[in-house]
Amino acid sequence: MVRTIFITLVLSYIGYSFLVYNYTAPAAEPPELAKAGMDIWQSKNCQACHQLYGLGGYMGPDLTNIVSDSTKGAAYAAAFIKVGTARMPDLKLTDEEVNKLLAFLTWVDKSGRSRVAKDQVNWYGNYQIDKK
Ligand code: HEC
Repeated sequence: MVRTIFITLVLSYIGYSFLVYNYTAPAAEPPELAKAGMDIWQSKNCQACHQLYGLGGYMGPDLTNIVSDSTKGAAYAAAFIKVGTARMPDLKLTDEEVNKLLAFLTWVDKSGRSRVAKDQVNWYGNYQIDKK
């Protein structure tokens, strides 16, 4: 009896360990265009001045949700990226590079929110994701 329990437990342990260490969660891979945009984001060091999810440099604004921002959006972002402003440098990017960056920012936008708006917080302090 004791032996049966022992063997069952050992086998369960081995089986469970096998499952745990072999399980790889399917990662949500970004589309190719967004990946290409991420390469440009990194090589041009946009993060030195901008934040994603609140992290990064603080010279320019957070860009996590610029694409879905009703007062801004993709065309607005493209204009800044393409020509810069007095404060943001013109990085001399081609239209193709700008499109890739927009694909990256669109993908980032869908992955989370940088700021919790007041109306997303319940009266008891919890964050409600479904509300915008
Ligand atoms: C040297 C710092 C610096 C770098 C590098 C930089 N930016 Fe900026 N960016 C800024 C500043 C400052 C602003 C605000 C400009 C203004 O309001 O005149 C800005 C504004 C923007 C905006 C408009 C944001 C808004 O909400 O109004 C976008 C989009 C943007 N940058 C994208 C990028 C991308 C993409 C890169 C990399 C290819 C990049 N920036 C690199 C400094 C930088």
